[in-house]
Formats: sequence, C-alpha cells, structure tokens
Amino acid sequence: MSDTSPNPIPKPSSVYAKTRLWPEYFSVTAGRPPRETLLEALDLFKSDQPPISDPLAIDFGCGEGRDTAELLRNGWRVHAIDGHPEGIKRLIDRDDLVDPTRLTMQLAPFEAVELPPCDLLNASYSLPFCRPESFDAMWNRIVDSIRPGGRFAGQLFGDRHSWAKIDDRSHQAAERVEQLLSPFDVESLKEEDREGEDCNGEQTHWHVFHIIARKPIGSS
Ligand SMILES: C[S@@+](CC[C@H](N)C(=O)[O-])C[C@H]1O[C@@H](n2cnc3c(N)ncnc32)[C@H](O)[C@@H]1O
Repeated sequence: MSDTSPNPIPKPSSVYAKTRLWPEYFSVTAGRPPRETLLEALDLFKSDQPPISDPLAIDFGCGEGRDTAELLRNGWRVHAIDGHPEGIKRLIDRDDLVDPTRLTMQLAPFEAVELPPCDLLNASYSLPFCRPESFDAMWNRIVDSIRPGGRFAGQLFGDRHSWAKIDDRSHQAAERVEQLLSPFDVESLKEEDREGEDCNGEQTHWHVFHIIARKPIGSS
C-alpha cells in the first residue's frame, strides 16, 4: 500500500540510487554529513609538508553537495560536476556554502566530461554509475587530472554487490581495483562486503571499496 500521509517517511536512499531516481535520492540525503573518505583525505592533506597552495578539488558526482560544502569550509576551490540538473540546482541553493566565489559547477555526463588538473578528485559513491563501455576512458581521465602529490578519494563498487548485475553499472573485482590504483600510492583501502537492506527490507549485498590514494610526487 502506498504511503498517503501528509509527511511520508522517506525510504532508504539506496533504492533511489539503485534505480537512478536522483531527485528522490537528493531529497532523502539532504542535510547528511560529508563522506568519511573525504574527511580522511582532508586530514591527510593537512599533514602534507609543504602544504599545497590554493588547492583545487573536483567533486565528481557532487549530487546535492554534501562534500562540496565541506571542501569549501576547508578553504578549497571546488569544481563540482554532476549529470543531473536537480543536483546542481540543489547545490546552488544550499545556504551553507562558505565563499561560493571559489565554486564552479558543471552539468555533464561522466562518460564525456573533460577534467581540469586538480589536487583532489573526490568521487563519493558516484563511479559505479558510469556506463561500463566508458569506464576505462573515464578512469584514465581521472588519473590524468590529478596532479603529482594530489589524491583520489571515493568508492569503487565491487563485483559481489547486488547491483553488479544491472547492465548499465560499472563494478570491479578486487584484482581490477588493484590494477586501477596502480598509478597511486594507496593510503587507505577498506573493503566493505556485507549483507544489508535495500527498499522495504529487500536484501542487498554491499560490496564497496573505500579508497584514498595519492599520486606520487615526481610522477607525470
Ligand atoms: C549516489 S549519488 C552520490 C552523490 C554524492 N556524491 C554523495 O556522496 O551523496 C551519485 C551521483 O552521481 C550522479 N550521476 C550518476 N550517473 C551519472 C553520470 N553518468 N554522469 C554524471 N553524473 C551521474 C547522480 O546525479 C548523483 O548525483
């Protein structure tokens, strides 16, 4: 039976990500805190010597901007990219953007977007939604965009995840994750591999690699 009450209880966001219902996903996740991988990467940057001057982050698949807002709070310039206009609109409308003159936004698909050189490429829960035929080229553009000494932070989704069966998704086995990270020094790699829930109690197997990796200084 559908929920017809005036204030329906939001369903778990995972169902909306599963089905690419992004406006619904943005509504359910609005106001949530920044992702752990971003916070850990920011801590690592704080301990780098010498610190990077006037650093630039790309927030790849920024959604409604939970990570973009945190980057601005930490003094970064941010180029936020998303393929859904509602994500960009919600980002512009946020009331917690510190010095938004340091923010640029781009509405673009992962499959074709050109990336400027950056110090951090943050991709929180976004990469599995790149269409598989475009994934390798997209990943190469990500690697090329990160300057030596810069970092990648975010997630790759594993091949044991329930959504790996969906045709338009990009999931990787552990060996492939290792290959994809070979241009980097891996600073943190946590593999989540557990049973959980999707909409209305539907069982979902979560298989996610949480990654922070640094491009070696002196690499190209
Ligand atoms: C699961 S959400 C993650 C949003 C945010 N980074 C977070 O951590 O909550 C995935 C985001 O990727 C965007 N996205 C999905 N597929 C895309 C594609 N092919 N090109 C560009 N953006 C895409 C969606 O609009 C959505 O904002």
